[in-house]
Amino acid sequence: MTLHRLSSFIYQVPDVAEVISYYTEFGLTDNGDGSLATVDGGTQLHIEQGPYRRISSIELGADDPDDLARIASSLTALGIDSVLDQNRLVTTEPIMGLRVEVVVQDRVAQTTVPRAPVNGTGRVERVNTRAEGILRDARVRPRRLGHVALVSGESDSSLKFFVDGLGFKISDYAGDKSSAFMRCSPDHHNVAIFGGPASFPHHSSWQVDDVDDIGRGAEDLLTANADRKGWGFGRHYAGSNFFWYLKDPAGTFSEYYADMDQITDDDLWTPEVCEGKSGLYTWGPVPENFMPPGDIADLIAAQNN
Ligand SMILES: [Fe+2]
Repeated sequence: MTLHRLSSFIYQVPDVAEVISYYTEFGLTDNGDGSLATVDGGTQLHIEQGPYRRISSIELGADDPDDLARIASSLTALGIDSVLDQNRLVTTEPIMGLRVEVVVQDRVAQTTVPRAPVNGTGRVERVNTRAEGILRDARVRPRRLGHVALVSGESDSSLKFFVDGLGFKISDYAGDKSSAFMRCSPDHHNVAIFGGPASFPHHSSWQVDDVDDIGRGAEDLLTANADRKGWGFGRHYAGSNFFWYLKDPAGTFSEYYADMDQITDDDLWTPEVCEGKSGLYTWGPVPENFMPPGDIADLIAAQNN
């Protein structure tokens, strides 16, 4: 695969300090310069001041300068400009105005975290001791950025940009194929695009070790402030991942996830059109004000100012 990861993104918000404080509580490390880091992925989130919440830029990792030349050629075929400078290609997604930088960089090497023994029906893995997951007391710290989910005012064009222009693969569609989960790595999705009345960020998603860390992270955030309630605990159909979403102070959801589908052979994965319930989840019903989020009217008004 040409690309190998979603490396980072720039997130514009009206109040930078409160959002940095939130994501520090979420478990990221505050670098002190407006950026935050994960344990395995390094600096992956940059916070900037802006009039309303918006993901203005994403950075993607590629293996080789030749990959950038191929992407530039594909974008040209779509009539989209790009600037290629040795190890960096910069372009702009035309609908959302999303700046995309593709950079030649190393892949993230993650250390294997052993799976905790789990007892099941007729399957005893842990005896005479409590579950390791209930004994953890260290703060949950996300391992790496997994994906961003963006709502586009013209999602068909946005999907074309990512698939035909950048080389993303479709893992699953949602609804009438105007929404899709796309990958640029073995993760089931690194970017999800949903159709909507305007363009705005829906959520970012961060990998943690397992369901206990999803639960522990969400518990800490909700205990401190119940208004952060988003959606969880649940399990998605598209991607199979367990999840819990918490709302950040600017109104974008932040997701803890674990157990995401990994696709290493395109020929062995068949994209489905996930309609109705399976488009969003397999269990754990969707609450109100999640899709669309509760601030959608205010957001559209702010964008039109
Ligand atoms: Fe997600």
